[in-house]
Amino acid sequence: MKIYLETTRMMFREFTSDDADLLVDLDSDPLVTKYINGGKPTPKKHVVERVIPRLLHYNTRDDGLGLWAALHKTDLEFMGWFHFRPFQPMPEQIELGYRLKRKFWGEGYATEGSEALIQKGFDTLGVTRVVAITDPENIGSRRVMEKVGLRFEGNHVEADGFVCVKYGLERSDYQKKIQTSK
Ligand SMILES: CC(C)(COP(=O)(O)OP(=O)(O)OC[C@H]1O[C@@H](n2cnc3c(N)ncnc32)[C@H](O)[C@@H]1OP(=O)(O)O)[C@@H](O)C(=O)NCCC(=O)NCCS
Repeated sequence: MKIYLETTRMMFREFTSDDADLLVDLDSDPLVTKYINGGKPTPKKHVVERVIPRLLHYNTRDDGLGLWAALHKTDLEFMGWFHFRPFQPMPEQIELGYRLKRKFWGEGYATEGSEALIQKGFDTLGVTRVVAITDPENIGSRRVMEKVGLRFEGNHVEADGFVCVKYGLERSDYQKKIQTSK
């Protein structure tokens, strides 16, 4: 198992071709996909043929960016995933994202994982700007963005015309905040 990062309660590992069922199960909960596609499950065929190859491709990157499975440290249970990857269409901005199984919501896991990725990005990967987007109505996700220091920047229109809200954080602002909290 190739571990990318550890937080207090989680470890992030690379995805493998054996993970299709975990991803199908994650997306089978309509509340998990509510603000992503209106609550639809992701068919296994799509996961096997489209999603897994994309995830395996992330594993070939050598810049520390990607998408990882989050496991609970106590029993290695699959919790969901986090990504920290070039934002399309502005790849110099690094996009934070997360999707967790409902049983893990409300316990600070998204915040914990996001803080660790942001810290690693700014401190060791040379990232200069972190962004995140979400459905304006996804209050839980917006709250995570705020809690980890991202600021609301306005609307962002996706390629398919969907209007999201965008949050962002510059490395200089992150560093100032760290200095003042010391
Ligand atoms: C969004 C998501 C990752 C949050 O994960 P999480 O581990 O529960 O997040 P945290 O516990 O770190 O923080 C959630 C915060 O949002 C708040 N929150 C959650 N739902 C809320 C709601 N409907 N209204 C107001 N606040 C809400 C929580 O109270 C918490 O804030 P607090 O610590 O100030 O009380 C999780 O709900 C999820 O996976 N959702 C489905 C997938 C998804 O929508 N991903 C994001 C796509 S952009």
